[in-house]
Amino acid sequence: MSIYLDTSKIDEIDYFHKIGIIRGVTTNPSIMLKEGVTGGMKGIKSKSKEIAQLIYPLPLSVEVISNDYEEMINQSVEFASWAENINVKITIHGPNGEIENLKAVNHLEKNKNIRVNVTAMMSVQQCYLAAMAGATYISIFGGRINNMGYSSNEEIKKLRKLLDDFDLNSKIIVGSTREVLNITEWLLCGAHIVTCQPEFLKTMLIHPYSKETVKMFLDDAKNI
Ligand code: E4P
Repeated sequence: MSIYLDTSKIDEIDYFHKIGIIRGVTTNPSIMLKEGVTGGMKGIKSKSKEIAQLIYPLPLSVEVISNDYEEMINQSVEFASWAENINVKITIHGPNGEIENLKAVNHLEKNKNIRVNVTAMMSVQQCYLAAMAGATYISIFGGRINNMGYSSNEEIKKLRKLLDDFDLNSKIIVGSTREVLNITEWLLCGAHIVTCQPEFLKTMLIHPYSKETVKMFLDDAKNI
């Protein structure tokens, strides 16, 4: 059970990597855009290589930027060649429900020795199919599930049971983290990994009452 960072911010990744509490990094095109990556594929490449080198040998997920079958394959092969700890993110299907994506996942995992993270999934059913197609990671979006009025906790519990009962090796990544509480709750529900923005880890770590207690120790130490 572990925590990944869902960001492309180098300073934050470096900080949390150095204190040893993260086990990987996930990104997507929206995160990269929001965090200032520019320059199209060149920009994605240089940011991805920088992160991959910084956290090596921990895994980094980089998402393909096309939904065309051949382009998904070509981009995946290219991304994986940038660093050996890069794995490739492919969405469960296209924007109009195009379903060639899992074919690409199966081909990459089986014939190209590339680890795939199937992403943008909102249900246990989608994740089960991605696991059957051979995905190394299956990413379910907990916060978006809750926003739709369903229980992310229940989906994660069912998903973990399904994987365990049927000996499927995919690792569950829960993303779309919205609250600090999500992290431990989702891990306890059976997520192998929760990926979150750096801000959540800071809130998890620093407690006002711990601050006050530490201050008391230091003040009292002066008077011994
Ligand atoms: C997961 O890998 C995704 O990058 C991410 O958590 C998406 O979450 P969002 O709902 O905040 O876009």
